[in-house]
Amino acid sequence: MKFFIDTANLNQIKEANELGILDGVTTNPSLMAKEGIKGYDAILNHYKAICEIVEGDISAEVLATDYDGIIAEGKVLAALHHNIVVKVPMIKDGIKAIKWFTDNGIKTNCTLVFSAGQAILAAKAGSTYLSPFIGRVDDSGWDGMLLIRQIANIFTAQGYKTQILAASIRNANHIIQCAEAGAHVITSPLEPILGLLKHPLTDIGLAKFMEDAGKM
Ligand code: E4P
Repeated sequence: MKFFIDTANLNQIKEANELGILDGVTTNPSLMAKEGIKGYDAILNHYKAICEIVEGDISAEVLATDYDGIIAEGKVLAALHHNIVVKVPMIKDGIKAIKWFTDNGIKTNCTLVFSAGQAILAAKAGSTYLSPFIGRVDDSGWDGMLLIRQIANIFTAQGYKTQILAASIRNANHIIQCAEAGAHVITSPLEPILGLLKHPLTDIGLAKFMEDAGKM
């Protein structure tokens, strides 16, 4: 399972990258706004800065919601760097645009996926990745992990090539469950990734080893 970091914060991207286990980055307009990125040129420059830090797929989201606008924006984003993946919302024009990008050799990430039906459409259009938002599904009173398992079962049965990119990760356990459920990728904020390191018995064991090392 690949690990992407879900942030536009360059320091956090660098920290995750230095761990040596990072395979890519996802961003969205909310994450870009959180970093104070304003204006079209600043947005494009920020994507370029991310591409310089991480050697892996970098999702850059289109802001247009109509077919022509999505295609025009996607072309500009894809031209920024060979690792850019055009992130397209799960809407009718988005699906049409994903098919066009697929036919023209541009990688895509279909975002805002909340159902198996949406996942099937994204796969049929040839999306490279699709992003089910498991945390937001949980927030709405449903089971995000059940959605990942259902999509994984369908994709295995149908032989779809689209990679399941589990998004809206809220904690380390989400990451573990995604690995178990057959997600191809998780995208997570830094904290849940670092949360995987933690176990109290590791801390107690290391403290004891250090104590005993002092006696040697
Ligand atoms: C990923 O592509 C999404 O933008 C992101 O994971 C959404 O996460 P959130 O529900 O925590 O905003």
